[in-house]
Amino acid sequence: MTSLQNEDQKNIWHPFSPVAGEAPIVIKSAQGIHLLTEDGTKIIDGISSWWVNIHGHSHPAIAEAIYKQAKELEHVIFAGFTHPPAIELSKKVLSILPGNQKKLFFSDNGSTAVEVALKMAIQYWHNKGTPKKKVIAIEGAYHGDTFGSMSVGDRGLFTDPFKDHLFEVDFIPFPDGTNDQLIIDQFSDFVKSGNACAFFYEPLVQGAAGMRMYSPEILSRLMKIAKDAEVLCIADEVFTGFGRTGKIFASEYPEHQPDLVAISKGLTGGTMALSITSCTSEIFDAFNSNELSKTFFHGHSFTANPIACASALASFDLLMTAECRSRIASISESQKKFVDKLKGNPMLNDVRSRGTILALEIKTSSSTSYGNSLKYEIYKFFMDRGILLRPLGNIIYFLPSYAFTDDDIRSVHTAIEEFIRSRRS
Ligand SMILES: Cc1ncc(COP(=O)(O)O)c(C=O)c1O
Repeated sequence: MTSLQNEDQKNIWHPFSPVAGEAPIVIKSAQGIHLLTEDGTKIIDGISSWWVNIHGHSHPAIAEAIYKQAKELEHVIFAGFTHPPAIELSKKVLSILPGNQKKLFFSDNGSTAVEVALKMAIQYWHNKGTPKKKVIAIEGAYHGDTFGSMSVGDRGLFTDPFKDHLFEVDFIPFPDGTNDQLIIDQFSDFVKSGNACAFFYEPLVQGAAGMRMYSPEILSRLMKIAKDAEVLCIADEVFTGFGRTGKIFASEYPEHQPDLVAISKGLTGGTMALSITSCTSEIFDAFNSNELSKTFFHGHSFTANPIACASALASFDLLMTAECRSRIASISESQKKFVDKLKGNPMLNDVRSRGTILALEIKTSSSTSYGNSLKYEIYKFFMDRGILLRPLGNIIYFLPSYAFTDDDIRSVHTAIEEFIRSRRS
């Protein structure tokens, strides 16, 4: 253990990590697709550092924007005050969100963006004088780690100690392509109760559940039923936003537009903590009053931090370039071709992609789950080859930033094929 690791172990408690586990690797710098350890070893970041990094690490344009903003205005309270970076960012973000999204509420991470969406939806019905309480969600979902976001997510390993404190949610099964009618029937029953206030979903890809993918068609059908019954549709685009699924937002795939959208992760290019919950004017209008009882009493100290907004503006400009769009298209194409190549491989239960996201479910003697112990072997295999892939149990996923060249993508694909071959011997 190095001296930095020693000090880390003495003082720091790391997220999503058994505390008795191995000491974390110290990263001193990062450039493009690489993380650099304290002894200068290069590691390819194949998971975009928890899915946030979209333009590569330490991007000079984002770094410059942060530096400039820090010298001008580092922070100001966002109640009663505003600032140019937030105003500018609001125009840009609204220009790419689904067309019915009209107002933005800032917070600082994915969980809080989800929490805000939930509270907005519940208070919307309260303010209208027709309180509806039940949320409908899809089994297996992950929406974050606050109590509201845990409540609408999967009940299991992550949430077990808190289960008595989570609010009740109506869950429909995950649409796996074989159960459409069952899901439609269950969803319709939940909606018919008249007490459903919102339908919460990760559009097309359930990330933490193992990059589980479902079709825009079934989502369109569910959204139609929800809309007909005035149940608000809330798209959690925290992971899927900013090009991950091939389009800027996954909400562009289904036929209907969501009523609220939660975004974070790629918003700042993965540089600063920032998130946004957007909503329609209809939702905003239910709060449009001087009455305190109709006010949305929610906010965080760092709401709309100007430096974070400046990094989001720089990231937005990069995302809009023809070069970045063509990288997204090219990465999506490479992932798709790789899926076609591996389809039917006897070592795999499944292989799938959606846009830039690739996932492979490795066959093992135990069932597919986050707890599947193959994850330790997979992690080590790739780290030994200088590639960071942090499997979800026996599911390997590869989530490159758009800084990956075709050659970089190929080198990770080659390592994945090597791993599959190693399973045969
Ligand atoms: C779909 C989705 N929603 C919400 C979150 C929570 O985001 P954060 O970790 O920034 O709180 C995540 C995190 O992975 C996510 O994937």
